[in-house]
Amino acid sequence: MKKVIAIDGPAGAGKSTVAQLVAAQLKYVYIDTGAMYRAVAWKILQETTAENVTNEFITASINDIDVRLSYIEEKTKVEVNGQDITDQLKIPAVNKLVSQVASIGQVREKLVDLQRKMAKDGAVVMDGRDIASNVLPNADLKIFLTASVEERAQRRFKEMKNKGYAVALNELKTDIAARDRADMQRKISPLVQTKDAVLLDTTAMNIDEVVQKILSMAKN
Ligand code: CDP
Ligand code: CDP
Repeated sequence: MKKVIAIDGPAGAGKSTVAQLVAAQLKYVYIDTGAMYRAVAWKILQETTAENVTNEFITASINDIDVRLSYIEEKTKVEVNGQDITDQLKIPAVNKLVSQVASIGQVREKLVDLQRKMAKDGAVVMDGRDIASNVLPNADLKIFLTASVEERAQRRFKEMKNKGYAVALNELKTDIAARDRADMQRKISPLVQTKDAVLLDTTAMNIDEVVQKILSMAKN
């Protein structure tokens, strides 16, 4: 049976890494909804400076922002108005703006609509913040993936270092904590663990252990 698997959780919990590996094992499509919010934030930053971004500006711009997400040969590609921006989605300026962009109803409506269309035939693993609670409430398996904020900041730190970026661990920790707060406290579709979701605290788990655990649940 072609299942729908929803993975939600805070920043750096391992959602995209684990979701991609689970999707590859099951030969499912992986849908990175965070990348879609990041793409909107990236485009907004092309139109104006970070200091000048207001909710009104974002709302007025959203109709002209065309986000396309594709997943081909186990690789996610994100295009905005025809431009491939996949490699630019994790830059600090986007990290800082994305939660504000994601708190706006018109942005969410547009992206959620696209996300549901992409999942309509099943055989998908989708990760984000509101997948179980809002985007795909009938998902066959719902996972709430988390880890301590220290561990999540460490993971991001290692990842950035490996990619050659010099970032301060403390700055990453502050950024992650601020984004968690904004995502959990916003009015529209906040990050929550739904009652029917399985909680997986991965603080002391490696990637393979998490993947195996989810695969065993998906097979039942
Ligand atoms: O990878 P990381 O956990 O840092 O973030 P992400 O999954 O790329 O998501 C970036 C931001 O997009 C989050 O901090 C949320 O503000 C927003 N987001 C959301 O509101 N709803 C989703 N389904 C996915 C992401
Ligand atoms: O998508 P999300 O923000 O939840 O996290 P991610 O980008 O998948 O993972 C953040 C970093 O943590 C990546 O570099 C992963 O390789 C690493 N990771 C880990 O070390 N142990 C885990 N159990 C899960 C992820």
